Amino acid sequence: MRIAVLSGAGISAESGVPTFRDDKNGLWARFDPYELSSTQGWHSNPERVWAWYLWRHHLVREVAPNDGHRAVAAWQDYADVTVVTQNVDDLHERAGSTKVHHLHGSLFEFRCDACDSGYTGPLAAMPEPSLEVDPPQCGCGGLIRPDIVWFGEQLPDGPWDASVEAVVSADLMIVVGTSAIVYPAAGLPELALSRGVPVVEVNPEPTPLSDRVTLCVRQSASSALPALLPQLPELLRQARAKRA
Ligand code: APR
Repeated sequence: MRIAVLSGAGISAESGVPTFRDDKNGLWARFDPYELSSTQGWHSNPERVWAWYLWRHHLVREVAPNDGHRAVAAWQDYADVTVVTQNVDDLHERAGSTKVHHLHGSLFEFRCDACDSGYTGPLAAMPEPSLEVDPPQCGCGGLIRPDIVWFGEQLPDGPWDASVEAVVSADLMIVVGTSAIVYPAAGLPELALSRGVPVVEVNPEPTPLSDRVTLCVRQSASSALPALLPQLPELLRQARAKRA
């Protein structure tokens, strides 16, 4: 059996990684997400954008995968599992998932915003969150930016093509912890449904996708995912009977 998993910030929230949309009390709560993750925001205040991503980089290193990430990795014992994630953390990999495609880049990769060279040099420590930090400079004089896909930027071709391939060839798609509003990632479950692939949404809250999926599981990722696979045949049967 081939399973495609599309994950979003909700699966990592239980590991302690706040999302823009959840982080109402954090240091950056007063900033529009667009200011922190767009090329325009970067050009108007690279020190602020760099501080935000450097803080998240250090934060993610301190947290651990949760039962949701671990369940997805454990499915590899029974199925060919491909994880397509919008998350820029590495918690799926650290839980043991081997096929992971990052649609929105990674908090652990950096490149020059002028010449595009990768950067593997030192990064400042950040014992306390700080609102502005100077980004490192490339040898060419450009500024080093996180290798993350910002609003308005194109998704990397390789991960996108691999994700589409995983979705269209899947027997089952599980969509977990995403508000399903940011395209083109949000189009992947629609693609699966249009190909007749059953789609199961795991999210405590309804999303724009909820009315169209085959089955909604209104629970958190860490409570739903560990028990999900054995229950799925029966849950899908019930969901289809209800629709018939
Ligand atoms: N388990 C499952 N789902 C959860 C949990 C949980 N414990 N906690 C929250 N959620 C759900 C929320 O109900 C919400 O629908 O996770 C979703 C998180 O939504 P967003 O914060 O919008 O995250 P995401 O969908 O990943 O955002 C997509 O937008 O911010 C940009 O580029 C960034 O990759 C990101 C993209």
